[in-house]
Amino acid sequence: MKELIEQIKKLKEDKNAVILAHCYQNAEIDEVADYVGDSLYLSQMAAKTNADIIVFAGVFFMAQTAKILNPSKKVLLPRLESGCLMADMVNLEQLREFKSKNPGIPTVCYINSTAEVKSECDICCTSSNALKIVGSLNAEKVLFLPDTYLGKWVEAQLGTTTVITYPGFCPTHLRIKPEDIIEARKKYPDAKVLAHPECHKSVTDLADFTGSTTGIMDYAIKSDAKQFIIATEKGVVDRLKRDYPEKEFILIKDNIVCQNMKWHTLEDIYNALKYEQHEIKVDSQIAQKALTCIDRMLEVSKQGK
Ligand code: 13P
Ligand code: SF4
Repeated sequence: MKELIEQIKKLKEDKNAVILAHCYQNAEIDEVADYVGDSLYLSQMAAKTNADIIVFAGVFFMAQTAKILNPSKKVLLPRLESGCLMADMVNLEQLREFKSKNPGIPTVCYINSTAEVKSECDICCTSSNALKIVGSLNAEKVLFLPDTYLGKWVEAQLGTTTVITYPGFCPTHLRIKPEDIIEARKKYPDAKVLAHPECHKSVTDLADFTGSTTGIMDYAIKSDAKQFIIATEKGVVDRLKRDYPEKEFILIKDNIVCQNMKWHTLEDIYNALKYEQHEIKVDSQIAQKALTCIDRMLEVSKQGK
């Protein structure tokens, strides 16, 4: 493995490439990654990199977003199978139908969506800035897609806006049940429960904190508590365990793994760099409209609270 890591680092240097890795990736990917984080952070890094090649160790929509934000770069997805099941739950036709049933209402899409969908939405958001983005619209009602649970969580937190949601969801996060939290609390009564807003409401209602992947990590790092029950994908727990051995992190249950995130191996990353595969391209008209939607998010995200 050490040799492979060195070869990847050399290829990165030779080709002026950067590697972006989502924190649901297999933790070994961090050995070669330049940036590791949540979807907002990675899109900000993709937008500002000067590298010629961006290798995205994440899911398809993330690589596509990187390409839209920085179109002159070559964006590579090491394994094309890495799609987001939630993002694929809504296509352009379904979006148009959703909008036509609810005319004249601003439409917010989660970044976990295709470029085509983004191209016909007003603004996008990630789990870490969803409250800020929806709140910034000062609207009585908004349409939100694809994730119904994130949308309804935003509605409950804001208390000012009716969020009409599309019935999309994340199959990985929906595997977490309220009984799992109740059981874990019995076993670890002093632990804090940290959940991702893609979880079902019956789960986030039982959590001490709900936030994005890096929101969860930041909370655990800064908290005085010593034990944490983590209700999101396993990659978050793997990184916390590795980096903070003095604290205890418990994955809510074993199978909270996003298989699509986990396709990329170090060998795939090596091949991606060596053979410059698989290049992500986006139709220029779609990309231009999707960029407006993503740029609006980045702009609002930069503004103070
Ligand atoms: P983050 O915005 O927290 O990175 O989440 C992306 C994602 O796909 C979670 O399932
Ligand atoms: Fe998509 Fe869910 Fe995987 Fe996140 S965890 S990439 S929402 S399928």
